[in-house]
Amino acid sequence: MTQIGVLTGGGDCPGLNAVIRAVVKTAQRYNWRTLGFRYGWRGMIENDFVVLDQNSVSGILPKGGTILGTSRTNPCKKPEHIAKVKETMQKNNLAALIAIGGEDTLGAANKLHKEGVKVIGCPKTIDNDLNATDYTFGFDTAVNIATECIDRLHTTAESHNRVMVVEIMGRHAGWIALEAGIAGGADVILIPEVPINVDEVCELIRNRHSRGKTFSIVAVAEGAAMENQNIVLEEKLDAFGHVRLGGIGNRLGDLIEKKTGFETRVTVLGHIQRGGTPTAFDRVLGTRFGVKAVELVKAEKFGHMVSLQGRNVVDVCLEEAVGKLKTVPPDLYEMAKIFFG
Ligand code: F6P
Repeated sequence: MTQIGVLTGGGDCPGLNAVIRAVVKTAQRYNWRTLGFRYGWRGMIENDFVVLDQNSVSGILPKGGTILGTSRTNPCKKPEHIAKVKETMQKNNLAALIAIGGEDTLGAANKLHKEGVKVIGCPKTIDNDLNATDYTFGFDTAVNIATECIDRLHTTAESHNRVMVVEIMGRHAGWIALEAGIAGGADVILIPEVPINVDEVCELIRNRHSRGKTFSIVAVAEGAAMENQNIVLEEKLDAFGHVRLGGIGNRLGDLIEKKTGFETRVTVLGHIQRGGTPTAFDRVLGTRFGVKAVELVKAEKFGHMVSLQGRNVVDVCLEEAVGKLKTVPPDLYEMAKIFFG
């Protein structure tokens, strides 16, 4: 019997289970068996897997997280780990491995493909910063959660005449802050792509309040920086060389209060944005990606990734997806600025 593998790597995100379910069900149509490798690339290094059948994927569609577990293990850090991944492929006679992940997981998939591993990529990240796909699943859910939080912050901000700073996820790209900020009617949106000018932010808030408004909402992405200096929660690097970001909300809140004199509160949304049930959009996108990923295995298009382009699910080279990040284009940010202040 043909066997394929599937793994979920990097930060979890809503919609991962929709992909796993679609992979298993589509593979079954070809009478293939699916092995689910646990905790991302770690499962491939340690040959740690579960056999996935109809029953294992029953009822998982609306569930957040991933039934396989995930980790930020980098299989390409040590040559012996690359060898282990190859050994696992051989030992289980895997026709292919479907790697579901973001820039790091798929970057590793691309390197392993060059090493002869038969891999297909499936893009996920709430940050939506992966190149060569219009959207990744998880993003829509995160935007909806962050938008709801901004709506909720509005009512308390208005009742207390306060400035509310809301820190939103987005390490290198400000997609969630931008879209939730637009949808939630934030008065200022700050993203990693554009350095923060605190005086300008304060000026916008002062002008707004001089018009008679008594409250303001500032949406800031965790990766947004003042004077090109990210604020870091933890200096320790993960396996892919990332520090943990966080703290810009508090820093900015302090400065706004000091410079404007307006009482200011800070809310850090954190992992609330990644947890819980996926939106219908993310369930459908995850399902379409999972089906397409198995079709790519069938067509032996190894080294390719499924991708959403317009309304179509197509495939692109992994190389194209991991070469550079998809950041917020300047014209979109300029458009958002019409609503500032
Ligand atoms: O990459 C997705 C993401 O949620 C980023 O927005 C955030 O910076 C990071 O993961 C947080 O990672 P962790 O869950 O490891 O703290």
